[in-house]
Amino acid sequence: MIVERENVMEKVTALCKRRGFVYPSSEIYGGLNAIYDYGPYGVALRRNIRNLWWRHLVELRDDVVGLESAIIMHPRVWLASGHLENFVDPLVECRGECRQRFRADHLEDPSRCPTCGGPLSEPRRFNMMFKTHVGPVEDTASEVYLRPETAQGMFVDFKSVLNSMRVRVPFGVAQQGRSFRNEISPGNFIFRLREFEQMEMEYFVRPGDDERWHRYWIEERMGWYVKVLGIRREHLRLREHGPEEKAHYAKASTDVEYRFPFGWGELEGIANRTDYDLRRHQEFSKEDLTYLDPETGERYLPYVIEPAAGVDRIMVTLLVEAYDEEEVRGETRVLLRFHRNVAPVQVAVVPLSKKEELIHVARKVQALLRPYFRVEYDQTGGHIGRRYRRQDEIGTPFCVTIDFETLADHAVTIRERDSMAQERVPIAGLVERLQERFEEEAGAGM
Ligand code: GAP
Repeated sequence: MIVERENVMEKVTALCKRRGFVYPSSEIYGGLNAIYDYGPYGVALRRNIRNLWWRHLVELRDDVVGLESAIIMHPRVWLASGHLENFVDPLVECRGECRQRFRADHLEDPSRCPTCGGPLSEPRRFNMMFKTHVGPVEDTASEVYLRPETAQGMFVDFKSVLNSMRVRVPFGVAQQGRSFRNEISPGNFIFRLREFEQMEMEYFVRPGDDERWHRYWIEERMGWYVKVLGIRREHLRLREHGPEEKAHYAKASTDVEYRFPFGWGELEGIANRTDYDLRRHQEFSKEDLTYLDPETGERYLPYVIEPAAGVDRIMVTLLVEAYDEEEVRGETRVLLRFHRNVAPVQVAVVPLSKKEELIHVARKVQALLRPYFRVEYDQTGGHIGRRYRRQDEIGTPFCVTIDFETLADHAVTIRERDSMAQERVPIAGLVERLQERFEEEAGAGM
């Protein structure tokens, strides 16, 4: 690593644009602050993050089921949840020259404007929910909100899940989807956005069992970041919320944080929401949301443990974690050392030249590998070294090169991203050898 950690955010931002991970949204119109689009490799990376989360939180467990609730919900949901009243940040405005707006709790000196030094207004409570209207008449009766968290869908549909599925407490409902917050001070690339994606799970437990399950989920989630995504443990920490920063619904909350170049930042919050949400929805909807324990006959409102993560934050974490530069023969080699689980492309198939015989074999090798790995075929012109560099920059763990000798010996070269070491392997054993190499990588990274 020759790059200073402080510069990594800038470098990652530039790489993301250059290599098709992240584009500023509506760029030809000048962009839109804190809203981004994801390009082809970004999409692949995000899919991997989502799939790995779904695999470990839903598919590999017996006690969690999935849900996709709507982004626009009945407006009373937000009254009951407390978001209309409490989902606010303290907003201050510069009364000097620049008139900029800031989040008071993000300022070192809340009496002076950090841009022009002018005086600041008194803080006012600014609600972060985006408002819109349903139907053609824009009156207050038609006002609705874009959800600021996916969680409420799981609470509002709690009864439907209970009635339609054979679930028994303790059980969870998991959801992935877009959420929207009109953040006053977004920034740090895709860390704090106005449109973003959440992965949340509401785990319903018997009151009294909540603290034990809270500890369980904190440990479980930390393990996922290290073992499944390959993030170094020393770059992660758990931080318990103090009483002043807890959300209005939380009895206790612990964040998983990553050491970003700009400081420690939250990737996921694991909260004990008690029975706050079910109780409030029961009160506002007048529906009975209690659970009847079939064994004990006990009837109660379950408590909720909620691990809530963000796809965009995990994405930027993986990029920062993987970014590296090295000097190779007087040139700077840029690479993303992605764990194989998250790499957008796992194997690139690279014919040495555009000669028809080579392309023919390369396409066969691609077809051979495709059922097992995420494969890209890279025939773009240019020197083979240039193509390796491109694959290094998108974080592809292995390139498989087809050269003229391949036509005679039916063997190809595996070139590994991190060491650049090359190995000659018969095509007949290529799938097995790559599988072995991926296993070795996974072992070495942990
Ligand atoms: N349901 C609980 C909840 O929404 P949160 O801590 O406000 O809790 C959960 O959000 C996760 O969603 C955060 O840990 C973060 O990963 C992501 N997130 C929240 N606000 C975000 C934003 N403005 N931009 C990107 N991700 C965000």
